[in-house]
Amino acid sequence: MHFLKKLSLTKKFFLGIGIILVLFWALFSYSTYVYLREIYKTEAFSKTNLLYQQIQSTIKYIRDDLRPTMFHILPHNQFIIEAMSVSFITKSIMSDFRKKHPNVIYRRVSDNPLNGENMANRRENKFINYFRDNRKSVFWKGIIKDNNMKFAVHAKPVIMESECLPCHGKPADAPDMLKKIYGTTSGFNKKVGDIIGIEYLALPLDKTFTQIKDLSFSIFIAGIIGMMLMFIAINSLINIVAVRPIGKIRSFFKSVVDGNKGFDSKIAIRSKDEIGELANSFNTMMEYLKKSKNELISSEKKYRQIFEGSKDAIIVADCLGYVQEANKAGRELLGWKETDIADNSRYLFDVFLNSSDYDKFMSDMENNGYIKDFEVRLLSAEGNVADVLMSANYREDESRQICGFETMIKDITERKRLIRQVYEAERLAAMGQLAAGVAHEINNPLSIILGYTSLLLENDSINGLVRKDLQTIYGNANSCKKIIEDLLSFSRVTETRLGYDNINCLIDSVLDMLTYEFEKKKISIVRNYCPDIPPLLIDSDKIRQVILNLLINACQAIDENGTISVLTSYDTVNNMEVIKISDDGCGIGEEIREKIFEPFFTTKPVGEGTGLGLSVSYGLIKEHGGDIISEDTGDKGAAFTIRLPLNAQNINNKD
Ligand SMILES: Nc1ncnc2c1ncn2[C@@H]1O[C@H](COP(=O)(O)OP(=O)(O)OP(=O)(O)O)[C@@H](O)[C@H]1O
Ligand SMILES: [Mg+2]
Repeated sequence: MHFLKKLSLTKKFFLGIGIILVLFWALFSYSTYVYLREIYKTEAFSKTNLLYQQIQSTIKYIRDDLRPTMFHILPHNQFIIEAMSVSFITKSIMSDFRKKHPNVIYRRVSDNPLNGENMANRRENKFINYFRDNRKSVFWKGIIKDNNMKFAVHAKPVIMESECLPCHGKPADAPDMLKKIYGTTSGFNKKVGDIIGIEYLALPLDKTFTQIKDLSFSIFIAGIIGMMLMFIAINSLINIVAVRPIGKIRSFFKSVVDGNKGFDSKIAIRSKDEIGELANSFNTMMEYLKKSKNELISSEKKYRQIFEGSKDAIIVADCLGYVQEANKAGRELLGWKETDIADNSRYLFDVFLNSSDYDKFMSDMENNGYIKDFEVRLLSAEGNVADVLMSANYREDESRQICGFETMIKDITERKRLIRQVYEAERLAAMGQLAAGVAHEINNPLSIILGYTSLLLENDSINGLVRKDLQTIYGNANSCKKIIEDLLSFSRVTETRLGYDNINCLIDSVLDMLTYEFEKKKISIVRNYCPDIPPLLIDSDKIRQVILNLLINACQAIDENGTISVLTSYDTVNNMEVIKISDDGCGIGEEIREKIFEPFFTTKPVGEGTGLGLSVSYGLIKEHGGDIISEDTGDKGAAFTIRLPLNAQNINNKD
């Protein structure tokens, strides 16, 4: 049956129809053969019957008319065989008849005949015995086989009648002439009603049967040839009207599926029949497919845009956690390349910084089926750590089986940094207020100490060790005053004098002041100024102090041979000017970054730094409504960014 699968539909159809028709035709031919045989048999029996009737009429004539007349005419004891013996006459007539119809067999025989030639053979004796045993049976009709030949046989018993007794009764009564010809040993002493023999008429059937068989076979063969011709004609017709157009439709669809043809193309079949209607339906379906495809593309585009455009990371992973898709934000956050995703080489659970977070993520997913705003720290492929909020769902396939994870990750690193910064600012503000109070109280007694000390020093009569001690007191009290002034600056209690100034020029003036320091340490300065930066409403002295503090810090951070870059830009969106001062010095360690704006925090040796530079700068920038931050530069030096509003409207000027 396997070969059937390889056949085309037309061949299967023709093979099936062919087998059915051949079987049907064979049955028909055989039925015809059987039918014709039966007709011929009936015909043969009717012929034997007719002939038999003819013979019986002849016998009746001899018996009833001819023989009595001959007995009457002839002298006593005379018997003329040729005119009086029924057997002789019928045999003679039939032997003449057989010259023209040699196939017809006529026998009138007995198991005890007068004439030895009429002795029954073995089969004829069987018939005689059959009739003797079945006295009611007056004839037998049927087909017998003899020497492998078939015959239609009509047999009848010959029954002794009173008219026959003169010749077959007692030998003494029989004509002398008869006894002279046949003797007296057999054929006599019969009684009326005895079955003395049979009449037997046979017609051979084989020749006609063979003809019928040949005819039926010819009909069968002719039918098969006719069918084959019909099949060829029908096949050609089906080929022209159906197979070829369907083949055209099939190859058209194959081209569409292979991508060689677009959904715009149409099947060119113009017939108005069913195939034409099918082609038209296909063309309509193509239009529908095109429309669906376009809708699908635009839907895919829409969701792809949402996916790719999302500022939050979206990651799709399979059940094992291998990443199948990651949007731009996701790739950037986790430091993945597009090829990593295509290669299936990224594993979602590698991104957890702590394995305990991964365990919690998995147990929450298993317990709830989802996870929402799970705060966790992730580690990117480039080694960056990010604070994120993670939400995830299980992903289901068409049969609603879990097939992976859909994860949304919100990067909150910046937000957390800002929160920390706000917290820090509040802390610094509180410290500033405290420092201002202390500074204010110490300022007056210190001024008195300085006043009295300077008065004493003006006195020339004080010399020697006392003068030296007074100078030490004066010098240290002066240092204290400087610290107090710094503290007051930090807590914004100094007077503010506003005016428009160009920030580039202001920075240049500070850089000029430090030229000697830079040359001493072989530090080169890179200026990257925004050329047409608008003038800024500031207290120039205070901003100059901030710039100075930052540049001194940068200079101190470089041992020798370094670069300090100064960049200015104008943020038109927020209407702010930005100053960025960066260096390639020792940098600021992660552990102290949060502390550097605190007053008196310093890493420098005693006498070199007081730890007030940045805290004062912070206070001054805040006073201008601006902002100062230390950028995270990793291990590549330090960078400070100052943002100042173009019009410092809300400058606080507290006493
Ligand atoms: N550019 C820089 N590079 C490296 N570390 C810096 C830089 N700027 C500031 N720091 C660190 O911040 C600390 C605080 O700086 P700040 O200017 O407030 O105080 P100081 O420089 O130590 O002393 P002062 O400025 O009062 O003389 C410094 O001691 C230093 O550790
Ligand atoms: Mg400093």
